[in-house]
Amino acid sequence: MLSLLAKLNWPFLVLWAAVALSGVCIDRYRRSRRFGKLRGCQTSHKQAQVKDPFIGLDFIHERVIRGLSGRRLLDCIEKFKQYGSTYSVDRLTYQVVQTCDPENLKQVLATGFDDFALPSSRVSVMGELLGSGIFTLDGDLWSHARAILRPSLAKHKMDRLPSILEHHVQQFLTHIPRQGEEVDLQPLFFELTMDIATEFLMGYSSNMLDPSRKREKEQQFFDDYMLCSEEAIKKMSYGPLRFFRLNLAATKAKKRVFKYMDEYIEECFERQDGTAEMTDKENAFQEIASAITDRQSLRDQLLHFLLASRDTTASLLSNLFFVLAKNPQTYARLRSEVLSKVAFETPTFSGLRDIEYLRWCVNESLRLHPVIPSNGREATRDTTLPRGGGTDGKSPLFLRKGAVVLYNVFSMHRDPAIFGDRVDEFVPERWSGLRPGWGFLPFSGGPRVCVGQHFALIETYYLVTRIVQTFERLESKDPREWVELPGLAMTCRNGNKVGLYQA
Ligand code: HEM
Ligand SMILES: *[C@@H]1O[C@H](CO)[C@@H](O)[C@H](O)[C@H]1NC(C)=O
Repeated sequence: MLSLLAKLNWPFLVLWAAVALSGVCIDRYRRSRRFGKLRGCQTSHKQAQVKDPFIGLDFIHERVIRGLSGRRLLDCIEKFKQYGSTYSVDRLTYQVVQTCDPENLKQVLATGFDDFALPSSRVSVMGELLGSGIFTLDGDLWSHARAILRPSLAKHKMDRLPSILEHHVQQFLTHIPRQGEEVDLQPLFFELTMDIATEFLMGYSSNMLDPSRKREKEQQFFDDYMLCSEEAIKKMSYGPLRFFRLNLAATKAKKRVFKYMDEYIEECFERQDGTAEMTDKENAFQEIASAITDRQSLRDQLLHFLLASRDTTASLLSNLFFVLAKNPQTYARLRSEVLSKVAFETPTFSGLRDIEYLRWCVNESLRLHPVIPSNGREATRDTTLPRGGGTDGKSPLFLRKGAVVLYNVFSMHRDPAIFGDRVDEFVPERWSGLRPGWGFLPFSGGPRVCVGQHFALIETYYLVTRIVQTFERLESKDPREWVELPGLAMTCRNGNKVGLYQA
């Protein structure tokens, strides 16, 4: 080995490396010049200081350590204040741009959609832990998956929803003490949305909240699947070092998740044969299963669909009740608005949409605690962002092929230029007359906009209304602030401990 090193012609090698490096630099420079001229790009003057330009250890350290402390997203806001709403964190190997500018989000998600793909880190990590479904697919495979899943959420398919919601919310209410005794709503919301999503999407419910059921299997599935999604998030924050992260527990959990899903699907098929109601087109499972014949893809797609619909809605409910419990006057106003519109009746969907204050509260929760707080895309060719170049950051910015754009909805949602003052507080009233456009993106936008937005909102309105009708007062039992728990959907790390008083 040593003799081999000695034999090498070192001056020649160094020369060769220098030529190659300058070649890369010149190529990059020419590409950016060409584009710059074309679209008026300026170089970025907003550069975050980088201690380790090779693999980005400082960036990884920040995400991991600050993630543990639950302050990662608040730190992001500070960074944007320091460097501007679009700044670069360049490595020698690839370009990273952080942004919370609505113009840039619009470009990445909609106007420039074809120039971007999902980041490769997300595809590999999520694919490894949760299989390959709509959240990891791009191009034709993605449009195909979307075309299969979307019709199951069409308006006329919603007819079945009210009775599903009513049944499960009643089960949910039996788990809540009536005289202000402490209860953690967070796990109950996760079980509730699981029961609803499985019934709506798969045709029969996991019934986690049914007191008469033995729930070990469901509980195991639930825990396993949480472990997988937490591991996915942790792995992603390790960046290029993720390959060194081995988690045997997660690998085992993944196997059990897949097994559970396979058995569930098997049971869905059996039940269908039993009832012979194959003409019943209302069932999402039947539709999806008839479009995807391969069992493994069917399982992966359904798992992603379940994940998309369940964790997100549970997190929204939990985040909303967290802030409502801290703001008793807002809860009182919400309750009186609900009662003035629908009294104690079973709500109808059109009745729910009439309760303006309820919609303000939900929007405000999604603003303050967006369930998917940050996300990213990777440039598939040389392209540009409309903002981030020049000394003031207002000129277009050149992006090399492979550049990663990390867009931060959490920070954007706390921009006073868009939302006015008291951005760190829960103020539903601010939504009176507010039209933030691309400044408010809880469900994303463009061709990959959430397919379940309508479903999620109506589900949330319904559940909140039923709970608010039942309880006159809601109080927080936890003096601590809301602290982020990073997951595939973001909730409060300390749960949601409250007391409720029946009317
Ligand atoms: C409060 C509830 C919800 C929130 C905040 C939410 C948010 C989002 C966001 C931000 C995305 C974009 C992700 C990305 O581009 O990487 C998304 C995608 C998606 N959502 Fe939702 N979602 C919610 C509920 C639902 C429900 C109930 C369903 C299904 C019944 C659903 C199905 C989907 C699907 C299938 C996608 C992938 C779309 C695609 O890539 O084409 N979501 N959601
Ligand atoms: C809530 O936000 C959406 C944008 O996602 C907007 O269209 C809607 O009007 C807002 N609702 C209210 C009541 O302001």
